Amino acid sequence: MIETLQNIETRYSCRSYTGTPIEPEKIKSIALAAVQAPSAMNLQPWQIIVIQDKALMEDMDATTMDMLSKMEDKSTYERIMGRGGKLFYNAPCMFIVAKKPDTDLDCGIVTENIALAASALGLGNVICGLAKLVFTTDKGEEYKKKLIPEGYEFGMSVLVGYPTNAEGKPHEPDMSKITYIG
Ligand SMILES: Cc1cc2nc3c(=O)[nH]c(=O)nc-3n(C[C@H](O)[C@H](O)[C@H](O)COP(=O)(O)O)c2cc1C
Repeated sequence: MIETLQNIETRYSCRSYTGTPIEPEKIKSIALAAVQAPSAMNLQPWQIIVIQDKALMEDMDATTMDMLSKMEDKSTYERIMGRGGKLFYNAPCMFIVAKKPDTDLDCGIVTENIALAASALGLGNVICGLAKLVFTTDKGEEYKKKLIPEGYEFGMSVLVGYPTNAEGKPHEPDMSKITYIG
């Protein structure tokens, strides 16, 4: 119980990864934690896609960065360049949560399960909403065909890997966001 709370307290968004491969048992444990998530009416409106294909991830990263570099609004491109220039921070693994339409909340809960499971196993991780941009590039349809099952859409992704610095810091909790009544 206390471990769960400590895990929530120490999870942080990791944006720098070593090349160390992730043990297959750890990948399996994270995938299991994902599908153990609760869902409305237990409909489980998701599919979990685990990508460890380095060449594919690098290709998606480069294609998306190229698209962003050519956009009139360069703010996203510049933000990523300021963080090392890689959309996926060289993470060796990406969990995609593909979802049925209108199931954002269920998708969010799965996503947090993945992030917390990875943290619990000593793995760095970051929820990566910007990964949706991959599917808006010239090669978007090709990626979609390869990665997103029929009847599903991209919901969210979580990048996972061993962190270069295990001392990463989560955001400061804002206690003013809490109201107690009674
Ligand atoms: C829905 C969602 C989408 C996010 N997308 C990205 C992203 O694309 N890239 C990124 O570096 N961080 C992303 N994050 C991580 C947030 O920036 C991070 O959770 C927030 O700054 C708080 O920091 P912490 O997670 O270290 O506590 C996302 C987080 C959430 C919940």
